[in-house]
Amino acid sequence: MIERDRIEEAGWIIANAKYGVVFTGAGISAESGIPTFRGEDGLWKKYDPEEVASIWGFRRNPRAFWEFSFELRNKLFAEPNPAHYAIAELERMGIVKAVITQNVDTLHQRAGSRRVLELHGSMTKLDCLDCRKEYDWSDFVENFERREVPRCKACGSWYVKPRVVLFGEPLPMDVLEQAVEEARSADVFIVVGSSLVVYPAAELPYIAKSCGAKMILVNAEPTVADHIFDVRIYGRAGEILPRIVEVVKSLKQNS
Ligand code: APR
Ligand code: ZN
Repeated sequence: MIERDRIEEAGWIIANAKYGVVFTGAGISAESGIPTFRGEDGLWKKYDPEEVASIWGFRRNPRAFWEFSFELRNKLFAEPNPAHYAIAELERMGIVKAVITQNVDTLHQRAGSRRVLELHGSMTKLDCLDCRKEYDWSDFVENFERREVPRCKACGSWYVKPRVVLFGEPLPMDVLEQAVEEARSADVFIVVGSSLVVYPAAELPYIAKSCGAKMILVNAEPTVADHIFDVRIYGRAGEILPRIVEVVKSLKQNS
């Protein structure tokens, strides 16, 4: 079946959804300039995740985490792309009820999505691990512009950490529980831009499938979970999702 047919089929399934849920990974933000972790030129080919993205690495040397983050400058100052806007449009149409994301870039919210479950947290809030003082992103934005490692303004500690889930840290349980609920409730579950290899997040598509959801995958390349999907569309989310939304809109107009 050629791509156009798959897009038509995905559009038809989504147009008839009663409770659509979208699950996204780094691939949906690739066209916003944020590199992905795996796949073609994934970050984990260049950096050691244990050193730059684990809690023990952060405790040992927070500078390595921040230099990695500054390297992903776009992650700190990126803009939503057409894929994020397409998903927000489906929420406005009453089709998508929730977005579950592994991303920490807040691009879904900035594209207009309202119900967003951030499984791996986000960069918007930070905490001093020594005196527990809480910060907003805005408290350090000049430092980040100058690529300076943030320092606690209260106690001088170098251990100011964003509320993102690093390797070795638990996911926010309340968010994970809500995400499981959404996966169970979905009659259509759409995965966009994830390699589906990191758990417990990657369990969610299987939960949706086991509860009878129709499964749609939009990803640049095959994943380890392709066998659970009813429709698989390989390509760029920023190009494919708006085309799917166009099909949904035309079906809705003619129904
Ligand atoms: N459109 C659609 N898919 C894309 C695009 C694109 N433009 N560009 C890349 N992809 C696909 C890649 O082929 C890959 O399969 O997106 C997927 C991204 O996979 P990962 O880089 O593994 O990202 P993700 O699945 O979100 O990783 C999960 O791993 O390192 C941890 O905490 C980190 O949240 C992250 C988690
Ligand atoms: Zn402090």
